[in-house]
Amino acid sequence: MELRVKPPRNEVMEATVKTYPITARESQSILQALRTGVVPKVGLRHLHVGRSREIVEMVKDIDRVAGGGASLRFIIGEYGSGKTFFLSLVRQIAIDHGLVVTSADLTPSRRVHGTNGEARSLMQELTKNLATRLKPEGGALASIIERFLAAALGEERLATSSDDQAIQKRLGPLEELVSGFDFAAAVVRYARAYRNGDEGCKSAALRWLRAEYVNGADARSALSMRNIIDDSVVYDHLKVLARFVKLAGYDGLLVVLDEMVNLHKLINSQARNANYEQLLHIVNDVLQGAAADIGFVMGGTPEFLEDARRGLYSYPALASRLAENRFAHQQIVDLSGPVIRLQNLAPEDLLALLGNIRHVFTSGGLARHAVPDEALIAFLEHCSRKIGDAYFRTPRNTVTAFVGMLSLLEQNPGTGWRDVIGMVDVVPDKSDGRATSEAVQQYDPGSANSPDDELASFRL
Ligand SMILES: Nc1ncnc2c1ncn2[C@@H]1O[C@H](COP(=O)(O)OP(=O)(O)OP(=O)(O)O)[C@@H](O)[C@H]1O
Ligand SMILES: [Mg+2]
Repeated sequence: MELRVKPPRNEVMEATVKTYPITARESQSILQALRTGVVPKVGLRHLHVGRSREIVEMVKDIDRVAGGGASLRFIIGEYGSGKTFFLSLVRQIAIDHGLVVTSADLTPSRRVHGTNGEARSLMQELTKNLATRLKPEGGALASIIERFLAAALGEERLATSSDDQAIQKRLGPLEELVSGFDFAAAVVRYARAYRNGDEGCKSAALRWLRAEYVNGADARSALSMRNIIDDSVVYDHLKVLARFVKLAGYDGLLVVLDEMVNLHKLINSQARNANYEQLLHIVNDVLQGAAADIGFVMGGTPEFLEDARRGLYSYPALASRLAENRFAHQQIVDLSGPVIRLQNLAPEDLLALLGNIRHVFTSGGLARHAVPDEALIAFLEHCSRKIGDAYFRTPRNTVTAFVGMLSLLEQNPGTGWRDVIGMVDVVPDKSDGRATSEAVQQYDPGSANSPDDELASFRL
């Protein structure tokens, strides 16, 4: 099949011209991430293409959480298809909507269930990555607590009052929740230490809240607290945290978990099933309306979901909970259930994406040599010849190579895009989560072969 994109349709190219101002710093950090094949931490709205229906659905989830409800979605997509990008975008939207967001990648030693500190270690990571509008890159725990205290006491009394009662009263709703009493006690200790300028006690309370105490004895001697956050209370603790951020004045908590495939990879069936049981508990809690102010978004590959031996479907109760609409397929999408399957980006999306990248590149004042629209098409055509459909299905290497080409043109004034395009090396993403292409291999201006000037169509 041959798709004619000839000449680039105005609306496509117009859609690529973003009006958001981009700072040089933002532009540099976006490009640095793309160059190494990772999803940028900032500025995703400058890049983002496609998947508008899925995003609309996620915004509804965010609104549900903000309205006191709960939500849960599994975002399922092939290796390299854009799961992490999508999760990061949702994370950003939730922050903009006034939620606190926390995120973590699962690893063999960081899981939703554990018996040897694996779940606690997930909690540590999630607490470290707590992010708010003022602290979008994480590390927001202390500022969330201080916002809570300010709301409970009023700014002035925060520094002076010896009255713990107001704090305790405001923490009241936490104490109804499992593990909420301990959480509240840690916050009270933090407040006291804050007032007394006791840095040691303040950091001990933060350590407790960050799930950093491994044994009860240490917590007892530092804080006179009996319990710690261990593997068994992690989900309860998240629910307490969700209610706490609400009390602090935020709209709720969104928990973003990526690389869920690590559960599928667990060889030990007992450990795997224990994790699936914990997931089932969360799914039930959310779908049955027992959880409040909290949303979950979890990214994984189709095998994590579907594999009948080791995937979520191997756990019958989960399989029935997550059963998808049997009418849904590639063309007819059903976004009403807990599973959202990311459709592949289309060639047009990639064209728009290259336009966005060019925009990021030029608006940081970095490029004196912005390439014309026809170069974008020529570039995609080149990638299509090299790696077939993979150039838009798993776009990481296409993106990496394109940024490489722009950098090269930037560094070699006087060199035209036609001179370099044929030399850009792009290989299929090796499905291991890491970038596999060297963007542009040893550039040699003398040997450049000029590709077809017409460049009006590219193959699908
Ligand atoms: N919707 C999108 N808009 C713009 N760029 C995107 C989009 N989706 C994916 N990308 C690009 O594709 C690259 C790869 O996507 P991403 O890392 O999200 O894939 P993944 O599914 O998480 O891969 P893996 O399975 O290896 O974890 C991103 O760095 C980004 O450049
Ligand atoms: Mg990923």
